[in-house]
Amino acid sequence: MLFPTFYLPWLGQGMSIALVAVVHVLISHGFAIGVVSIIVLLEHLALRRGDAELEGLAQNMLKPVVIIVTAVGAVTGAGIWFTVSVLAPGGIGYMLRVFFWPWFIEWMAFTLEVLVLLPYYFLWERMRAKQAGLHVALGWSYVAVAFASAFLISGILGFMLTPDGWVQNQRLVSAFFNPTFWPQLALRFLGGLAMGGLWSLAFVLFSRRIGADLRQRVMRLLGGWVLINGALCALAVWIYLGRIPQTYATHKIFAVLTSHLSQDAWLLWLGNILAALCIAAVALAAWLRWRRVALALIIPALILTAGLVSEFERAREFVRGPYLMPGYMYANQIPLAQSDYLDKHGFLAGAAWYQPQPPGLAPRAPAGHALFMANCGVCHTIGGLNDIRDRLKGRTQPSVTVMVRRTKQMVPFMPSFSGTPAEALTMAAYLYELSGERRSLEAVPPISRKGVGHE
Ligand code: HEC
Repeated sequence: MLFPTFYLPWLGQGMSIALVAVVHVLISHGFAIGVVSIIVLLEHLALRRGDAELEGLAQNMLKPVVIIVTAVGAVTGAGIWFTVSVLAPGGIGYMLRVFFWPWFIEWMAFTLEVLVLLPYYFLWERMRAKQAGLHVALGWSYVAVAFASAFLISGILGFMLTPDGWVQNQRLVSAFFNPTFWPQLALRFLGGLAMGGLWSLAFVLFSRRIGADLRQRVMRLLGGWVLINGALCALAVWIYLGRIPQTYATHKIFAVLTSHLSQDAWLLWLGNILAALCIAAVALAAWLRWRRVALALIIPALILTAGLVSEFERAREFVRGPYLMPGYMYANQIPLAQSDYLDKHGFLAGAAWYQPQPPGLAPRAPAGHALFMANCGVCHTIGGLNDIRDRLKGRTQPSVTVMVRRTKQMVPFMPSFSGTPAEALTMAAYLYELSGERRSLEAVPPISRKGVGHE
């Protein structure tokens, strides 16, 4: 354990990373790729047809988008780096070594995105008279850079789920163009376009400053846009799901519904079908220019879209459990190759940040707590989401002791405990006490830093 572990009350580590990431995905895909593409398309059409009203609409739509993309999009983008490097430094550090160049170029692309978007917005008036064509070209170049961003990030994210090839040959090309690369790129890009269509539709439906005739025309365009891109995105998701290993498909039900509801897999189908139907209905209503129906459905459709995005990202992150990178690193950032070493030589012996006796904690709690945080803290909290106390409530001490060493067999997406048998006992005693049963502690021999290496 080269890095300290952080305990985040209630939310826990995984959910904190997920929240920032999902907000970022909604904005980077839906707005930065989706809405901006539509704005540029509208401007392009307006220029070709000499339609000043349509151009005015495109320009009006851009203002909120620039604020959302540069403020919330950029902040959450940097926020992902902040949360991940604090909470999962081992994992991200490793990924940086594999993907140094793609990430370096991605940061350039990200900066370039902002550098192109700002003049596209601020110079619109000035370029309208003489350089309208150049202005549209500026818009399309933004879309191209946004696509490049999605291209780069898809290779890196896909690698975490299907690193096949790289595990054998360690080549960057194999890591990047992994089996889920193309379908994931397609689904992110097309999903972003479809989401952008829904957001633009909401703007057009609710805006009062837009004439009835123009609204009808744009509704038709956006309805068709959402239908086509949404259908293509669904196809990409289907191909993507076909490329991930079979075991992950079973995990998906647990990942989304949790074991609590895992026996009711139909809930998952029902939710997804309802969401797809609602999105298709709002798009069809827009295409048919039924404003009232579209108005009634657009908010539920947007909420359900956010639900679908969260479901996809959660499933993608979760199904590969117990790994952060299958074949290389466990979800708790312990490399597979190191796990055996830690079982033999001890975890705490090499844990640079571990203090055997920090002030204010009971004598044996620090060791147990440090072991818990390193082994289980990425997914379990104490008193919050996926509360370890709930998971252990009502168990006897021997059963907790056995469970701690059998986590991998118990729930398919939990990694096994890394550490010596004595450390497992210490953590089990700590967890048993946490789960509300006090009498256990005396039964376990104390553990010291010196002792752990000589098991
Ligand atoms: C990769 C994430 C992850 C890690 C790491 C992890 N767990 Fe879990 N654990 C889960 C999930 C998810 C569940 C099931 C939650 C649910 O859906 O009910 C679970 C359930 C459990 C249960 C209840 C199982 C049952 O069938 O009753 C226990 C006990 C448990 N975990 C202990 C641990 C211990 C101890 C560690 C550390 C050695 C650990 N977990 C590490 C994700 C994880």
